[in-house]
Amino acid sequence: MLYDTLIKPILFQLDPERAHHLAETVLTSSLASPLLACQIPAVRYPADFFDCDLAGIPLRNPIGLAAGFDKNAVMYRDLARLGFGFVEIGTVTAKEQVGNPRPRLFRLPRDQALINRMGFNNHGAEKVAGRLAGPAGLLPLGGNIGKSKVTPLEEAVDDYLFSFRKLKPFVDYFVVNVSSPNTPNLRQLQEREPLQALLQALSDENHDPKLPLFLKIAPDLNQAQLEDIVAVVEETGVAGVIATNTTIERGGLRTAAAKVTQIGAGGLSGKPVGARATEVVTFLRRNLPAETALVGVGGIFDGADAYQKVRAGAATLQIYTGLVYGGPGTVIRLLNELYGLMARDGFKRYSEAVGADLA
Ligand SMILES: Cc1cc2nc3c(=O)[nH]c(=O)nc-3n(C[C@H](O)[C@H](O)[C@H](O)COP(=O)(O)O)c2cc1C
Repeated sequence: MLYDTLIKPILFQLDPERAHHLAETVLTSSLASPLLACQIPAVRYPADFFDCDLAGIPLRNPIGLAAGFDKNAVMYRDLARLGFGFVEIGTVTAKEQVGNPRPRLFRLPRDQALINRMGFNNHGAEKVAGRLAGPAGLLPLGGNIGKSKVTPLEEAVDDYLFSFRKLKPFVDYFVVNVSSPNTPNLRQLQEREPLQALLQALSDENHDPKLPLFLKIAPDLNQAQLEDIVAVVEETGVAGVIATNTTIERGGLRTAAAKVTQIGAGGLSGKPVGARATEVVTFLRRNLPAETALVGVGGIFDGADAYQKVRAGAATLQIYTGLVYGGPGTVIRLLNELYGLMARDGFKRYSEAVGADLA
């Protein structure tokens, strides 16, 4: 594929954030359509094989774009062309914010990973809502919301509620992000009491229509914290959990330790987070009621990675770092490979394989 031999080597020479903006320009330009189209492999699975749903929202396939790639809702209409089944914008905060100083995004090619400390750089809920009010996209759309950096933790609920109200008319589901490592103290909102209060407030606000509400969690939670998450999800009746966000762990990397130290703080994504994210999915699937939807995300680069998460109980998946390393053909290639593996194992439909390892 042209992406591996030509485009990626050029993009990977650029500063990662500049490369992202270049990709954004290409994706949203109609002139680039033929270039993109020839990067996307032919579909090699039956038309309805991957029919599934995200907490009741019908999907053409289970692969979604993870949050952070289209923070400001500038690309979501164009991402349908890459074959995604659904797209999530954000994280959006109540207040517009510039994020952390650059550089704040780093590649670790030897680990097929990224480290980022973007810090929720985004245009704010008001502006993003204005953009969403334009022509609707073709794909189900998620709104991922977080806390503004300047808002104290004690006022977090109102901050989330502001973004929730602004985006609600335009999205199909919501994600409450309490798991980014790059907003000071944000992850404290994963603790039982504040989390219960936040999810309850959003649930109370969520009517006419009631949209599926997801909680996105970190891979770094310990057993007791995961048990608390299960309890709060059940108490508040949220529709599902997205597992997981990036990790603050740095164990087992191939990249030289000195380079990792020099990069500094941030969330690690890609291959190194894959196994832990799958463990979290397994734990949640074993402990949450069957009707609670689970989205598996972290380190999905190919069909085999996707298959593991599905067999662990994730009915839908999301990717970010795999797209950066794999390019515009990633989603269809992944679906082709996943179909091959499922057909090999005798599954007639995608949904039959969900949770197969838990039986
Ligand atoms: C550069 C970058 C920015 C991200 N920004 C967000 C964000 O704003 N909100 C969020 O919920 N997750 C964010 N994430 C986390 C991803 O959505 C995803 O949960 C994580 O990267 C693991 O998936 P992956 O290994 O496929 O990348 C970001 C990830 C990266 C690499």
